[in-house]
Amino acid sequence: MAIISDNENINLGIKKNSSVKKNPMIKPENNEYDKTYENSIRPKDFDNYIGQSALKETLKITLEAAKLREKPLDHMLFYGPPGLGKTTIAGVIASQMGVEIRITSAPSLERPRDIIGILMSLKGGEILFIDEIHRLNKVAEEILYPAMEDFTLDMTTGKSQTAKTLRVPLPKFTLIGATTKAGELSGPLRDRFGIIHRLEFYTIRELTQVVMRTAGILDIKINEQGAEAIAKRSRGTPRIANRLVKRVSDFAIVKYDGIITEDVANKSLDILKIDEFGLDTTDRALLDLIINKYDGGPVGIETIAAALSEDVRTIEDVCEPYLLQAGLLQRTPRGRKVSPEGYRHLGMKMPSEQQTLF
Ligand code: ADE
Repeated sequence: MAIISDNENINLGIKKNSSVKKNPMIKPENNEYDKTYENSIRPKDFDNYIGQSALKETLKITLEAAKLREKPLDHMLFYGPPGLGKTTIAGVIASQMGVEIRITSAPSLERPRDIIGILMSLKGGEILFIDEIHRLNKVAEEILYPAMEDFTLDMTTGKSQTAKTLRVPLPKFTLIGATTKAGELSGPLRDRFGIIHRLEFYTIRELTQVVMRTAGILDIKINEQGAEAIAKRSRGTPRIANRLVKRVSDFAIVKYDGIITEDVANKSLDILKIDEFGLDTTDRALLDLIINKYDGGPVGIETIAAALSEDVRTIEDVCEPYLLQAGLLQRTPRGRKVSPEGYRHLGMKMPSEQQTLF
């Protein structure tokens, strides 16, 4: 937890390992605190779910059709960067259908009995949500194939010649898979989803609405301009916007007159070292590293992660998607390169001989 020490600095209790300090607070890591907080502000219906309008429109039709046919929903796969509301939309779908949702993630389905246990405990119509589904192991995947296709579990009893396959019927359920890496899903698994949808980064306008809604739920005093200032620095991600509104609200209460205005938001976010693009110290350290140690790139992801003392997954899943989308970073077959915009963002000019490469 950050300790506010004075006007300009916050003590994050984190060791420096580059010219820029790390700020762990805005990372969309799914720790317990975040989960409880997120659950308390999660919208439960389409009207309160802001953004992803194309997805919402198709889902409304799909849900209506399933209700009219009295059939379970098709299996669905949602993919995209973390924090864009994949779990939230699954929760909305469940509550709109009036069914329970069971939430798990692939790393906790390590042994066959983990996935079998969950499948056998499902009731008709229920939704099984598997996060990080690209991390499912081969055995679990193969258990899922007949479960998804025919609502059966194929169990083998006995050994070699005496082995028998037992078909156990399962209730008709809907699997909702979520992943940040759709490309890592095996073809056969991907093919078993009837609906596959990519979640998009949110616009400033949408994030402003998310911030206003969250502030309303949490009784945080804020005006539209304050909400917009937070939205602008939230990297297109509602999870980050929701975290920042709480942090800024702490500043508003302790250092200002309790109301989040544009000025209060900007000053607080400056102190938190979140810049006008929403980049935090790790993002800037990443750009800084590639520019100053590797002449702007290309450089491999493992090298970047090792130099920043971060794991590859955090860099790939958390930092990169937004840097790529904002056009500050480029991915090439030989590694990552900082774009001319990336140089400009750090107040530097790209060496002219490199510029011709872009
Ligand atoms: N909180 C997180 N995501 C949200 C969304 N899409 N709409 C409203 N509140 C949210």
